[in-house]
Formats: sequence, structure tokens, C-alpha cells
Amino acid sequence: MSLQGKKILLGVSGGIAAYKSALLTRLLIKQGAEVKVMMTPGAKAFIGALTFSTLSKHPVAVDFYNESDGTWNNHVTAGMWGDIILIAPATANTIAKMSVGISDNFLITTYLSAKCPVAIAPAMDLDMWQHKATQGNIRTLKNNGVLVIAPESGELASGLIGEGRMAEPEHIVSWLEDFFSTQPKRLSGKRVLITAGPTYEAIDPVRFIGNHSSGKMGFALADAFASEGAIVTVVHGPVTSSPQNTAVKTVGVTSAIEMLDNCQQIFPETDIFIAAAAVADYTPAQPSDKKIKKGDNPDETLNISLKRNPDILKTLSSQRNKQFIVGFALETDNEFANAAKKLREKGLDMIILNSMNDTGAGFQHDTNKISILDKFDNQINFELKSKKAVAFDIVNHIINKLNA
Ligand code: C5P
Repeated sequence: MSLQGKKILLGVSGGIAAYKSALLTRLLIKQGAEVKVMMTPGAKAFIGALTFSTLSKHPVAVDFYNESDGTWNNHVTAGMWGDIILIAPATANTIAKMSVGISDNFLITTYLSAKCPVAIAPAMDLDMWQHKATQGNIRTLKNNGVLVIAPESGELASGLIGEGRMAEPEHIVSWLEDFFSTQPKRLSGKRVLITAGPTYEAIDPVRFIGNHSSGKMGFALADAFASEGAIVTVVHGPVTSSPQNTAVKTVGVTSAIEMLDNCQQIFPETDIFIAAAAVADYTPAQPSDKKIKKGDNPDETLNISLKRNPDILKTLSSQRNKQFIVGFALETDNEFANAAKKLREKGLDMIILNSMNDTGAGFQHDTNKISILDKFDNQINFELKSKKAVAFDIVNHIINKLNA
């Protein structure tokens, strides 16, 4: 999953190599990237938008507006979404329009308004590729900062043999891997503390009160932060999962009190604190040091009195010196109002809401569906995604807030 969490806005222009872009889309997704496709009107003659929308699981933008309902395709929003715009295949026509800024289609308008890096994978006949006009346009694009994935040599659709074939999809994926690996890490040197998983609260030496939290969301966040160069520690309760990135430090604990004690030691040096653990709100007031035996009377009841656990998030937030603090809210009703209340009461910068009403979201699942609320009352809703992809959305969002 070498492109995990990367957002690739794939522009497809009208050349025969457009069919290879379907395979490219699949390969990118297989490497963990999220792909949104935009096509020039000419590309539709070579491949259907349905192919790309099915593979990418996102609508495909071709026109400035949707003919069916008249809604506007916003090129500015599209351009802001991607970590990179990759135009593959880039025809001589699209390259020429890009070089002078002729914005007569959605793809080029998006290119002109984008702030992210742009790469093109040219594809055309060898004479068109060698033509002074094309080579001049390529020079202009390079001078404008566009990255060029060189076309390859071989048999061309015209039957001629020479340079002009679009780089093979596998080579484009490798190019992107190299590109992203050399990009500066956005959280280099930042210290991140994450709580994850459940806590177990002892009733006696063999029994406990716990919950079904798997820790997967916290570990996915740890991996996503580490991939951005952060120094990450996860303090986690009893779980079977673990982070994939070996640079992530893990501290295993059992109870809420232990989780708080460990976090408190790390918190003062922390830049970003994320409370993703499902901490037990109550703990047995007097855990027995011996196994509690059942009595002889089958009708007997056993009462265990519980006392409140400390709220780790609220406690640490009250000790904040510089930290950006994020909590989670798992809600069943009045989701947004409850999450906003928690955000205020716990003194958070941001809260991640997952609703128990959404299928595939929450405990144990590999997927999650979140909304992000911040202290300025902004709210963004995300689609159901893998927890890994959700983690990258959260990390990107935090980075944007830190840089705002
Ligand atoms: O109040 P509630 O438990 O719904 O709040 C959830 C948020 O608070 C989560 O971020 C969770 O990790 C954190 N929390 C905590 N300590 C507790 C209870 C919740 O850190 N005792």
C-alpha cells in the first residue's frame, strides 16, 4: 500500500491510451490511493465515464455542470482535493491548451485553478511528440512546474514504432511512489500522543468490565501520522491489533488509571493529542483481590458498585500548554449536538463524530464514517471509507488547521 491515503485527481484526455487509465485507476487504488477522475469530452469517445466511476467509486467530472440536474461541477473544489493532478494520457491537444491556458473544458480549468503538483503522462504518435510545437509546449509546461512522465518507445496505435506511448500504468505508479517519497514530510519532528483501544476495569483477578473497541482507528491514525514524519506514541488498552509502522512507539496498559498515568508522562512534550480510546467511564469501587465465588442460592444477585473513572481527555486538556487536542464521539442519538457539547466541555480543538446509526462505522469494523467538527462550528461529513483512509482524512484536516 505504497500510496496509502494519497488523493490522486486523474485527468484523462482523448487518446487511445485512455483505456490504460482504467488499469492505472485500479493499480492506484490497490496501492491505497483515493482516485477521482475527470475526463475531457474527447476522452469519452475512447472510454466510458461509467468505467472510471465504477473503478474509483466516485462520480466522474466531464462537463462544467451535470446535464441531468443542472448542478455545477466546481473546478476549484476539485483542484483543492488532490495531493496531485495526474493527466494520463495527456494528448498533444491537452498539452497545447495547458501551455497557453485555454480553459474550454473542466479538466484544464481544474488544472489552472489547482494548487497541488501536476504531472502529465503524454501519449501520441511519434511525429506529434517530436514536433517542435509539442516540444515547445512541453518546455513551457516544465517551466511552469508541470512534471512530465516521459512517454515510452514501442509500437504505437498508428502502427508506427517509436517514442510516444504513454508510460505503462505500472511505471506511472512507480513514478508516483518516488514522487511522494521525496516530498517533504509535513509533520517532521512533531510529537503525537494517541490513546487507543478499550480499558479493562478489574472486578476481581480474573474478571473485568470492558468494551468491544479494537484499537484499529487509533493505530491507523498512528500510521498516518508517522507517514508524515511525526514521532508517535500510542497508549493502548488490551487489543489484538497493532500499528504497521515500526517507528510507532506503543505502551500497553489495562485500566483507565494506568492509561491516564502513562499519558500524563508523555503529554507535556506532545504537540498533538488524539483520544481515540474507548475508556470505561466507571470502574469497580472495590475490586476484590480474590476471585469472587458464587453462593449456593441460585436466586442470589451480586451487586458491584462502580465509581467514576477520570476523564483522560478532559484532564489532559485542562493541563494543555501548546497541544492541539482531538477527541472522538461515538453517538447513538442527537449526534451532532452531543458531539458539539463534548467538544466544548472537554476543551477540544476538534472532535471526530462516528454514529452508531451508520452501517460499517464504529467498533470492530475495518471501515468508518465520520464527521469532523471544530471549535469554530465548522462541520465536514465524510463518506464510509476504510479506517486507514479515514485516518489520512483526519491527519490532513489537522495539518490544514495547524497551517491555517
Ligand atoms: O464522554 P465520552 O466518553 O463520550 O467522550 C469520548 C471522548 O473522550 C473520546 O475521545 C475518549 O477517548 C475520551 N475519554 C477519555 N476518558 C474517559 C472517557 C472518554 O479520554 N474516561
